[in-house]
Amino acid sequence: MKVLEASPHGVIYRVDEDTLRKAAELLCAGELVAFPTETVYGLGGDAFNAAALAKIFDVKKRPRFDPLIVHIAETGSLDRLGDLSLLEKANREKAALLTGRFWPGPLTLILPRRPEVPALLSSGLPTVALRFPSHPAAQKLITYSTGAVAAPSANSFGRLSPTRPEHVEADLGGSIAMILDGGPCRVGVESTVLDLTGELPRILRPGGLPREEIEALIGKTAQAPREGEAGARLSPGMLKSHYAPRTTLILHTGKEMAELPFRQNEAYLFFDRPSMESWLAETFSAQNPPADNDGDREGIFYLSENGDTVEAAGRLFEILHHVDGLGKTCIHAEEAPPGGLGAAINDRLIRAAA
Ligand code: TXA
Ligand code: MG
Repeated sequence: MKVLEASPHGVIYRVDEDTLRKAAELLCAGELVAFPTETVYGLGGDAFNAAALAKIFDVKKRPRFDPLIVHIAETGSLDRLGDLSLLEKANREKAALLTGRFWPGPLTLILPRRPEVPALLSSGLPTVALRFPSHPAAQKLITYSTGAVAAPSANSFGRLSPTRPEHVEADLGGSIAMILDGGPCRVGVESTVLDLTGELPRILRPGGLPREEIEALIGKTAQAPREGEAGARLSPGMLKSHYAPRTTLILHTGKEMAELPFRQNEAYLFFDRPSMESWLAETFSAQNPPADNDGDREGIFYLSENGDTVEAAGRLFEILHHVDGLGKTCIHAEEAPPGGLGAAINDRLIRAAA
């Protein structure tokens, strides 16, 4: 194998066979590698190596009560980590339906954990989170290494998830050996986390796979507990403040957003282009000149051209990372409609605002 040439971009390496093999070697040696998935970039370590898992928690400054997701590259690997025989029969059937339809893809399943899986991975819970990502580079990296790669999103705890290698480098570049560059993430929000260990399947985190699609396949899902309610601590990703930009974020309904005045030092994130255009027309019309309108509109954005929640989710973290670099005093964000990926977008915006 060729020795890696020094990257012109620090620790970022374009995905190819050589860099994938090198990354896999690092994982097998207990090191950490950041890699692309279709949702967000992950910070990977060997799921069966407790020392590597400890490094993940340390590098992210993640509290050890917040368990990690294991990434596999074939559905059959599920049985190395999870024990389906401990599920109720109905949920066992639902697990088969879900993996058959939605794997590989942005769906994480919570299942009973096998005793061989280090307890640290699951923060001592009797369960394990499993996901089979669809990104080809992720699949190869997992296959070339140990077949089971633990990976949280590759960001410091509580901060915005990375959807580009540069986001990872800016946040964690100093503490990891390698960031694999697979370009921008297609889905742009994290996977949907579905717990199959209770009586009724329960969505612990809305994400890249909409609830509607899950329910169309397996029937009704239970509501996740809110913070403070019993069970909420079971998925610490449900912590109220999370996915947060450094800039203060204020969440608005569409109506509130339409009525905001323009201030040069504030940023505006509309859900779709039409709502942005009508606000611009209103705010900058000759009859209604705003106090502060000398035309600098660098802080005005929309998530989707035409109200498509899939497109909007794909741009959400990307735009938040960008806005965060503009030095504005606050970000006004408009809530998304509740259906489809709107649930995941609003979940992230609510936590970013908390
Ligand atoms: O799309 C994704 O899921 C990305 C990419 C990299 O795959 N990963 C990701 O990981 O978002 P992370 O660690 O940022 O979020 C994992 C979520 C957390 O909310 C965690 O609390 C929850 O999954 N989780 C993990 N294991 C769990 C378990 N055994 N029971 C309940 N929740 C669990
Ligand atoms: Mg995360």
